[in-house]
Amino acid sequence: AAYKLEIENTPTNGADSLEAYRIKFLGTKGIVKNLFAEMKNVPADQKKEFGQVLNEFKQLAEGKYENWKEQLGGGSQKAASIDVTLPGDSLTLGTRHPINLFLNHVISIFNRLGFSTAEGPEIEDDWHNFTALNIAENHPARDMQDTFYIQQNPDWVLRTHTSNTQIRNMEKGVLPLRIVCPGRVYRNETISARSHCFFHQIEGLYIDENVSFADLKQTLYFFVQEMYGKDIKIRFRPSYFPFTEPSAEMDVQCLICHGEGCAVCKRTGWLEILGCGMVHPKVLENCKIDPNKYTGFAFGMGIERPAMLKYGINDIRLFSENDVRFLNQFTPIT
Ligand code: PHE
Repeated sequence: AAYKLEIENTPTNGADSLEAYRIKFLGTKGIVKNLFAEMKNVPADQKKEFGQVLNEFKQLAEGKYENWKEQLGGGSQKAASIDVTLPGDSLTLGTRHPINLFLNHVISIFNRLGFSTAEGPEIEDDWHNFTALNIAENHPARDMQDTFYIQQNPDWVLRTHTSNTQIRNMEKGVLPLRIVCPGRVYRNETISARSHCFFHQIEGLYIDENVSFADLKQTLYFFVQEMYGKDIKIRFRPSYFPFTEPSAEMDVQCLICHGEGCAVCKRTGWLEILGCGMVHPKVLENCKIDPNKYTGFAFGMGIERPAMLKYGINDIRLFSENDVRFLNQFTPIT
């Protein structure tokens, strides 16, 4: 045939190009209209053939338009581009870190006993981390807690315990004082399943008139019963800290092996979770508190090991490896 008309680009896009297509081919100034207008210039003997081709072309153009419109959902283009029956994208929610879950629960137990929460700096000066705590220079206790020193200034350390926060709060001079101080601490220790070079502690401090060692024991016993249940076994062992006198350490029965012996409790069946004692009179004096009027107790508890006990975690390194398969297993303790 002498005449042949085709539409090359089959429309495939969204709503905007459908309308552009309609205007281009079927509009009042569109290709189809223009071609029909050409009819008058076609020689009479060819008019029939031209007309046929033109009619087919018009049908083709209209057919494509209708098909396309149908695909888009009858012309309601915005609605058609969203398929409301498709399942939505799922949002992955983060979870709280097990350390924080455990810590929050510890804090809530002590809050119920009237302890409020205080925090202190992780980069600390020698006075608050050692000297005010009755740890003299050259005292072997400084080696007890393999300290990270800050190179630029030997007076600064990464705090080796949360006991710095006791001092900072006693120095404020507001008594009685009943606080817990959670936070991160640092020690230059070899990393293993049981130990890390950074970990968390929560410090407890209670200063008032007539605070006794019996208050200390009962407070800690209440805490472990709340945390691990009424049947939990504990034991106190005499110990030494320069900032408490007398001093003790408290062990909790290992709940991972139930006394059988495992890597976490070094096969002893017991887990050492805290150091404690009556605040040393020298420490009170260092903070300008009269030791003849006031007494107090303090304790410093690790967070990782008791949390491992609570959740049945057997390697301390898991806490800081950031593996979501580990992290998203934990829910708040109620
Ligand atoms: N600061 C001690 C430690 O980190 C723990 C402790 C705190 C002991 C308060 C007694 C009183 O080992």
